[in-house]
Parts: sequence; structure tokens; C-alpha cells
Amino acid sequence: MRIVALLLLIAACSSAEQLEVTLEGEGAERLLRFYFGSYTSDDPFETGLLERRGDRFYVGLAVLREYSPELAQGLKAKASDGIVSPESLRAAVQMTYYRARNLPEELSEFNDRWVTDNVIAFEVHGPVTNYLRRITLAEPALQSAIWDYYENGEKIRYAIGTVIKAEHLRGTRVVETTAMVRRSDGFWDFATYDSAGVLASHTLPNDRALVTPTECAGCHFGKKGFEPELSWPLDPTQTPDGIRKWYTGSRDIEVAEFFSEHLRRSDTLLGLYATTYVSDLRERRRAGTLDSSAIALLNHLGL
Ligand code: HEC
Repeated sequence: MRIVALLLLIAACSSAEQLEVTLEGEGAERLLRFYFGSYTSDDPFETGLLERRGDRFYVGLAVLREYSPELAQGLKAKASDGIVSPESLRAAVQMTYYRARNLPEELSEFNDRWVTDNVIAFEVHGPVTNYLRRITLAEPALQSAIWDYYENGEKIRYAIGTVIKAEHLRGTRVVETTAMVRRSDGFWDFATYDSAGVLASHTLPNDRALVTPTECAGCHFGKKGFEPELSWPLDPTQTPDGIRKWYTGSRDIEVAEFFSEHLRRSDTLLGLYATTYVSDLRERRRAGTLDSSAIALLNHLGL
């Protein structure tokens, strides 16, 4: 009898130490994994940080306190009747995310920590900003992702530590920089730096300022297609606002269909890096100017 009472007491205490977190939509579990995985290098469900019961999700406050006392405190303060609303969850994550990820305060520090050599650049007018976006990543990182396409189950996946930067340009001036860094848990970290190169909580307002990382994850984890990537290799005929255009690389419809990179977004990336890169290789092969390792890559893909 006593043991049963004790067990009930323990259960009551532990459930008091849990908060239910609610998120909209079918991608809830994945988003929660991303959010809470940002505070721990372990699987948040395995450590008891998160628990799923049916369609509902609970946060173990005692476990969370071990990883991030700030987030635990933030969630507890915002909870009402033991439930944390989606807005409150996002607000609490936004307040604590950069520090938890140890993202450098300054872009110069970021660039020193993740030195990227042999970068290739892609230019696009897309949905995130009205400025021209100059997206850069290390060519070897892209090449490896393409080489490993079959090994990764016909997916373009980047190595841990890969960095992709997107500078927003007014003329030649960088007005802000967004960046993603590949984490070991399969997600990417998101960062926004302002025109002075200082970490910023959100982007410059386009239609609206995008809050990092929660609104970034919204598009990058979602299924919605965006222009100009959706229409590629054609240019979009109708754009919701302003100009939408992908400027870099050759346009090869066979390669577009082969990778279907934007819609499949195997690694939550939305741009057409493998697609335009391989399109270029095929054009150079036709022109007879391709070196043997690049020819080997095309042969490996069967393209
Ligand atoms: C409206 C949807 C949307 C939102 C919100 C969004 N992105 Fe993106 N992002 C895109 C699209 C589409 C691309 C592909 C390039 C382009 O068209 O600009 C992209 C590309 C990128 C890239 C280059 C790598 C890639 O995925 O192709 C980075 C880095 C990036 N975004 C960072 C961010 C950050 C940081 C935030 C949050 C501040 C953010 N994005 C929010 C849609 C979005």
C-alpha cells in the first residue's frame, strides 16, 4: 500500500514538473525536435526532455533545467494551467536560442570560426528579401554532397559543420547576412547578422521582419514551394511581389527533374545548388572543357 502511494506521489510530482507544449500542424514533432535539440546534444526524446503521448507533447522541466535554466524559467513563466501556447514557446526559444547555440556575437567572429575556402556563389532575387541575395558555400562541401547522393538514399545532404551564408546586397553594400550551419543532429542552425555585422534577433522588414530561428524554420521545414526556384529552369511568370529570379548557373531541365532539389529539400535547404552546379558541368562537358574528376562525378550520377 505504502509503495503504491509512494509511486503515485512520484508520478504526481513528475507530472507537476511537466508542461504541455502545443504547436500547430503535422510537422510539430520535427519542430519540437529542432527547438529543444538546440539546447542539448542528445536526442530530446531519449533524455526525457520531451515526451509524446498520443498527439500531445510534454516538456520535462527538471531535465530542461539541466540544459537551459533560462528556457525552463521562460516556459514556466509563460505557461497557463500547465500549457504553453505556440506563441509563448516560440518567444521563449527566440530569447534563449543564440546563447544556447553559442553563435558568435559578431559576423567577423563567425567567419573566423567557420572558415570557408573555395567558395562558390549563387545570386538570386527570392522571397526572403527584396535585396539581391548572394549565397555562398564551399565548393568541396557541395561536391561531396553530390558525390554522396546515392549513398544518402538519393538525397543531397551536407556534412556536419557546413556553412551556407546569404548576404543581402544593396548595390555592393551588404545590408544583412543570414547564415545556416549544419548541426550533428541533422538540423541546421540559423543566424541573422545586421548591417554592422552584429547578431540580430530578426531580419530587416521585407513584408515583415523574420524572427530567428523560429520563422526561418517555418519556411525551411515546410512544404510550400517558392519562386523563383519552383519554376526553374523557367523564370516565374507571376511573382507575388517584385522581381524573382535565379541568376547563377546553366539551366538544364533534365538536371532539374533529376534532383527536384527545391521541392524535395532533403536537407531543409531551398536553393538550387546541386542543380545549377551539375547543369554547369553538363554544359562544360558539351563544350569539351570539363576535367576528368568532374566527368567522373557526372558519370557517377548517370547524368
Ligand atoms: C518565406 C520563406 C523563408 C523564410 C521565412 C526564410 N527563408 Fe531562408 N530561404 C528561402 C528560400 C526560398 C531560399 C532559397 C534562396 C532564395 O530564393 O532566396 C532560402 C535560402 C536560405 C539560405 C541559403 C541556403 C538554402 O536553404 O538555400 C540561408 C542561409 C537562409 N535561407 C537563411 C534563412 C534564415 C536565417 C531565415 C530566418 C531569419 C530564413 N532563411 C527564413 C525561404 C525562406
